[in-house]
This record gives sequence, structure tokens and C-alpha cells, in this order.
Amino acid sequence: MPEDTTQFGAGLPGHGQSSTRRGFLTGALALGGVTVCLGEPSSVLGAEQPKGGVAVNPRLFTFVGGKVGGWSVVSAKAVVGDTLPAVDRLHIVNGAVATMPDGGTWLLRGVTSNDRYVTRDEKDHLIKTQAALGRPESTHAALIPIRKSAKWWAMTQDERRAIFEEKSKHNAIGLKYLPRVARRLHHCRDLSEAEPFDFLTLFDYAKDDSGAFDDLVAALRVTEEWKYVEREVDIRLVRAS
Ligand code: HEM
Repeated sequence: MPEDTTQFGAGLPGHGQSSTRRGFLTGALALGGVTVCLGEPSSVLGAEQPKGGVAVNPRLFTFVGGKVGGWSVVSAKAVVGDTLPAVDRLHIVNGAVATMPDGGTWLLRGVTSNDRYVTRDEKDHLIKTQAALGRPESTHAALIPIRKSAKWWAMTQDERRAIFEEKSKHNAIGLKYLPRVARRLHHCRDLSEAEPFDFLTLFDYAKDDSGAFDDLVAALRVTEEWKYVEREVDIRLVRAS
């Protein structure tokens, strides 16, 4: 299976770094053991292609919690709602994992996507400031799966944007921690509303920035946006030697 063990697939389309539309359409999506080929293989950097000529959707990432993987789990806490079963390691795969691998306990998946809320100025600022995942000094990481409530999803785009930024200052708060913290946002709802989470948020940073990352999540969790979070699990990781 395509693997992304010690790094997070630096160079791949990420949070605010969409691949081309063509790249997305020519990928393949494998869900529930069924691989749907949407065209010719994509040549997006880093997306390893499975044998047999079927392309992987380069935007799809699978997170397998279990006994193997490039990241050791140091803690996993339910912030709100149900937790996830305890695991020792996290394995991050750029692509589909059709069936639970040996030693796997849970499997979460999501796709990177286009931005929904940022203005042009905010996006330009982000692009100038943000760092890629997988820097050598980024030995610490967090995977924070999040589900928002039906009330959030019932709102219109402009109503959600007003809460996300005008009231909660999500991006403005987050920007203060860039480039120390690198991030990638995966959307699960774009795969299916039956996924256990709406988003899989992934971050990495140097050991010395662990305290800053704690401050960042604490600042976001008291905002109005977080009143719409009905499930959140905070999984902290260190790179396995
Ligand atoms: C590192 C600093 C951070 C920055 C600069 C940042 C920035 C952003 C931006 C710009 C978006 C919206 C993208 C769009 O327009 O669609 C976003 C979405 C999101 N971020 Fe962050 N963020 C940061 C940290 C965090 C943290 C620590 C968490 C979790 C605890 C988080 C959770 C989310 C979620 C769940 C979304 C999706 C919101 C939605 O679509 O409803 N972010 N972030």
C-alpha cells in the first residue's frame, strides 16, 4: 500500500494547496473495498500508483491506528464525545486502504480539498507564511479528528464563515503559530456523511513548540465555532525511531 511513514507526504496537495482539477478527476477512489477508477493515472508528485494501472486519488489519505506505523501515540484524549480505541502507532497512507491491515484497530480517511472560507488576502497571507509538513525537526505531531453538529451543516456558507472567522478568528488565531506549526486538513464528509468524523486535522512541529501547540488548541476551543463541535479526539504523536 502507498506509504507515508516518516513524513506526511510533503509536496502533496494539502490544506490550502489543492491539486489540479484534472489531477483529482484522473485519480481513483477506493472505498469499502471497491476501487472506482476515474480515468488515467495521475502524475501528482508523491502519489504512488498501485499495480494494475489503477490510479490512487492523490488527495485521499488513510490513517490507520494500530500496532505499526511511523508515529508513536503518546496520548489520545476525547475532548468532546466518544474517544477512539487506544493504539500504539499511527500509520499514514497516501491513498486508499480497502481492508483493515493486520494489527490495525481503527481506520479513518479523508480528502484534501479546496478552501471554503478564506478570503483572497487571507489565502495569500497563509501561502506566504505556512510551512510544509514533514520538516526534519518536526518530530512531534497531532491528529485531531473532529465532527461538527447538524446545526453547523444546516447553515449557509456565509453564516458558517461569519462564525469561523468574524466571530471566532480561527485563521487569525492560527496564523500566529505559523510557520512553527504545519498543518493539513482532510475532509471526510466529502467521502460520505456516514464517516465518523467530518474532518481529520493533522499538524506537526518541533518538540520545543509543543507548548505553543497546546496554547493554539486551547485558544480555538473557547471560540464560538467550537460550540458546534460534537466530537473531537486529540491524538498526540512522536516520530517513531
Ligand atoms: C496551525 C494554525 C492553524 C491555521 C493557520 C488554521 C487555518 C485554517 C483555515 C484557513 C481553515 C479554513 C480553510 C477553508 O477556507 O476551507 C481551517 C479549517 C479548519 N481548521 Fe484550522 N487552522 C489552524 C489550526 C487548527 C487546529 C489546531 C485545529 C484543531 C484543533 C483546526 C481545525 C480546523 C477545522 C476542523 C477546520 C474545518 C472547519 C470547517 O470547514 O468547518 N485548525 N483552518
